Amino acid sequence: MKTVAFNNTVLRDGHQSLAATRMTTAQMLPAAPILDEMGFAGLETWGGATIDSCLRYLNENPFDRLRALKKAAPKTPQIMLLRGQNIVQYTSFPDDVVEAFIRADAAAGQDVFRIFDALNDTRNLATAIKTVRACDKHARGELCYTTSPVHTVAAFVRIGVELEKMGCHSIGIKDMSGVLSPKIAFDLVTELKRRVGLPITLHTHDTAGLGAAAYLAAIDAGVDTVETSISPFANGTAQPDTVRMLALLEGHPRCPSFDPAKLQKLREYFTGVYAELSKFTSPANERVDADTLCYQVPGGMLSNFRTQLKEQGMSDKFEQVMAEIPHVRKCLGWIPLVTPTSQIVGTQAMLNVKFGRWKNVAQSISDIALGKFGRPPGTIDPELLKLVLEKTGQKPVEGRPADALEPRMSKLRAELAAKGLPTGDEACVLYSMFPVEFAKLHQPAVATPPAAAPAAAAIPAVPAVPAVPAATTPTPATSAPSGSTHRYALTINGRRIEVGVAELS
Ligand code: CO
Repeated sequence: MKTVAFNNTVLRDGHQSLAATRMTTAQMLPAAPILDEMGFAGLETWGGATIDSCLRYLNENPFDRLRALKKAAPKTPQIMLLRGQNIVQYTSFPDDVVEAFIRADAAAGQDVFRIFDALNDTRNLATAIKTVRACDKHARGELCYTTSPVHTVAAFVRIGVELEKMGCHSIGIKDMSGVLSPKIAFDLVTELKRRVGLPITLHTHDTAGLGAAAYLAAIDAGVDTVETSISPFANGTAQPDTVRMLALLEGHPRCPSFDPAKLQKLREYFTGVYAELSKFTSPANERVDADTLCYQVPGGMLSNFRTQLKEQGMSDKFEQVMAEIPHVRKCLGWIPLVTPTSQIVGTQAMLNVKFGRWKNVAQSISDIALGKFGRPPGTIDPELLKLVLEKTGQKPVEGRPADALEPRMSKLRAELAAKGLPTGDEACVLYSMFPVEFAKLHQPAVATPPAAAPAAAAIPAVPAVPAVPAATTPTPATSAPSGSTHRYALTINGRRIEVGVAELS
């Protein structure tokens, strides 16, 4: 029986989940050669929130980080997490920007691309898959796992089959909330192995205490790879620890072999880094989150949500709002809860409890109902759709959302040239997503200390929700996506309210 492969996530998801993505390249480099010789099938080092964090908090060029890590760990394939057409942001980008991003990333040393879409709309993965293939790199198509009446094993397997047809080299199950039970993990992997002829990877989080057990069940079902981290950047809201997984697999015919002395060395090293990042870590993220089990929503969403309710003076309505979330999801075709949909759905549940169902509809909810994010997994509630069509006067988007976008690369290049900034593909793609932060990176060198986190959490805390006096225009605009905290403006009974939507992956 083939041993199961481990990918290691400590340099990406491990610190994104447990230390607000604040590990610096300097903190990574001493560990990289050790990680490289351990026998991991892949090292996840890039993507997700790391690019945002490099630019916003660490004053680092993310492409330089990748090149440095590639040099320090040249043997093991390096993996990135890509949000399909959203790249590493929250809105759709034109195809030419997505293509340029992947080409630049491949040239900088990226080997494997984990590509997902929050709605599992495969049209939002098509350009990325095609471009990764054209660059001769590995395209791993991800299934965003969630629970709902329409998210059956059969439905996920259908998406897996489609991703295989689209040219993916492997399939990933991405359980971002850590709500995949061992039994369903077993069934899902069994069915995928039966219907899809590609290697299968399972990625989970131990948030609800299910992660390691889900891995064991998936390994029994024949999963090819699971993703583990290194303690203390492991367990809790991150991936199960490598040493822990090895102990759980002791005596198992598929147990892989790792040098315990080197694992111990890595643990000691990362314990030091964890202490250095103590401002950004929290004991709450290290333990099993019973609320996640109870409400079946991502752990990060819950902590953000408590803050948001408190700011709205609705702390006593927590249970009611939680109970409203499945209703909002159902009306939106059982949309998965992952950035940014988790915050959008949560905010609408709060509005429904406060003012009555659909008395106030958030702009982003209208956008989802109109298909601007892509095709939802189920059907949009007809009553809600009618309301949104009347309110906005817009027509539903029929095609792929990115089809409506004009090519942008030459415009970006011209803008950068006018500002006297670099105009290569790397510069263009970073500037397209993080214009302010990118410009800051190229300011004359000033020693900038890393910004302090507002709260120690796996995701940046939701900023205050100030109620601003009434604006005359009833149509709020979504603000420009400027990084890990995305701001939305809602108008409620003539009062304009800004809502922060924070990173969750
Ligand atoms: Co993850």
